[in-house]
Amino acid sequence: MHPLLERQIHKHLAPDAAEELADFLEAVDRAYHHADDARRRVERSMDLMSKELNARLDEKRSTEAALQQEKGEQTALIKRLEEAHNQLLQSEKMASIGQLAAGVAHEINNPIGYVGSNLGTLRGYVDRLLNVLAAFEAIEHELPEGATRAHLAAVKAEADLAYLKSDIADLLSETGDGITRVRRIVQDLKDFSHADAGEWVLADLHKGLESTLNVVNNEIKYKASVVREYGDLPALRCLPAQLNQVFMNLLVNAAHAIEGQGTITIRTGVRGTEARVEIADTGKGIPAHQLTRIFDPFFTTKPVGVGTGLGLSISYGIIQKHGGRIEVESEPGKGTTFRICLPLLAKPSEPEPNR
Ligand SMILES: Nc1ncnc2c1ncn2[C@@H]1O[C@H](COP(=O)(O)OP(=O)(O)OP(=O)(O)O)[C@@H](O)[C@H]1O
Ligand SMILES: [Mg+2]
Repeated sequence: MHPLLERQIHKHLAPDAAEELADFLEAVDRAYHHADDARRRVERSMDLMSKELNARLDEKRSTEAALQQEKGEQTALIKRLEEAHNQLLQSEKMASIGQLAAGVAHEINNPIGYVGSNLGTLRGYVDRLLNVLAAFEAIEHELPEGATRAHLAAVKAEADLAYLKSDIADLLSETGDGITRVRRIVQDLKDFSHADAGEWVLADLHKGLESTLNVVNNEIKYKASVVREYGDLPALRCLPAQLNQVFMNLLVNAAHAIEGQGTITIRTGVRGTEARVEIADTGKGIPAHQLTRIFDPFFTTKPVGVGTGLGLSISYGIIQKHGGRIEVESEPGKGTTFRICLPLLAKPSEPEPNR
C-alpha cells in the first residue's frame, strides 16, 4: 500500500479499524492486481488470436490471387485454343476454296481452249465467205435487169448485208476479247489458288497483287478506282497463296469501307530490310476504340451474313507466320491504311506439312 495512504489511515482511524481497513484495502489491491493479470492474459490471447486471424487472411488472399492467376492463364489458353481452332477452320476452308477454284479453272480451260481455236477457224471461214461474196457482188451488175436481179436485191436488203459485213468483224473481235478475258480469269484463279499452296517459294508480290485484284475486281470496281504506286520489290520467299489471301481480305475490307465512290491505293517498296505493301482507302475509317479490336477473331461491325470478323485475324496469323507484321493507321471520315511489313531475309518458320 502507498505509504502516504497508510499514514493517513493511521492518523485518522483507531488502530484496530485502521488495521481492518488496511487488510480490506490490501484485499482490494490484490483483487485489482488479479484483475490486471487476467486482463493482460485476455489481451495477450486476443493478440495471438488476431495475429493468427491475420495470417489466415493473408493465406486466403494469396490463395485467391493464385486462383485468379490460374483462371487468367486458363482464359488466355482457351482464347489461344479458340484462335488456333478458327485459324484451322479458315485455312481448311481456304484450302478447299483454292482447290475448288483450281478445279473450276481447269475445267473451264478445256472448253475455252477449243472455243478459242474454233473462233480462229471461224474468223478464217468468214473472211473466205466475205471474199466470195465480194466476188459475186463485183459481177452482180452484169446480171440482166429483171426478176433475178430484183430478187437478189431484195434478199440482200432483207439480210441487211452491208450492216452484217461490218458487224461480223466487230462481233468476232469482241468475242476474241471475251475469250482472252476468260483465259486471264482462269489463269488468275490458278495463280490465286496456287497449286503449291503449302510450299515456301520465291514469288513476285506484284504478280500476287494483280491476280488478287482480278479475282476481287467485281467487289471493287463499282466502289473504287485502284491506284498502283508500285516500287521495286525483289522476289520474296513466302507462301504466295496465303499472301494473296491477305491482299484479298485487305482489298475487300477497303472496298466495304468506302461509302459511295473512293480510291484504293496500293503502294509497294522496300524499307531497310523489309518489303512493304500498303493498301490505303478513302473509306469511313476506324474509330480509335475499335482499332485495338479489329484483329480479334469474330470482331466485325458488318451485319450478320456480310462479315464473319475473321478476315483480319487470319491475315494477322499469316503475316506472323512470315515473320512480319501488319500496321494500321486510320482517321475516321478520311480513310485507313494497312501496311504489311515482311522481312526480306528472314527465315520463315517452316509450316506444318500440307497446311
Ligand atoms: N479498311 C477498313 N476501313 C474501315 N474499317 C475496317 C477496315 N478494315 C477492317 N475494318 C473493320 O474491322 C472489322 C474486322 O475486319 P475483318 O476483315 O476481320 O472482318 P469483316 O470484314 O467484318 O468480316 P470478314 O470475315 O468477312 O472479313 C470490320 O468489320 C471493320 O469494322
Ligand atoms: Mg474482312
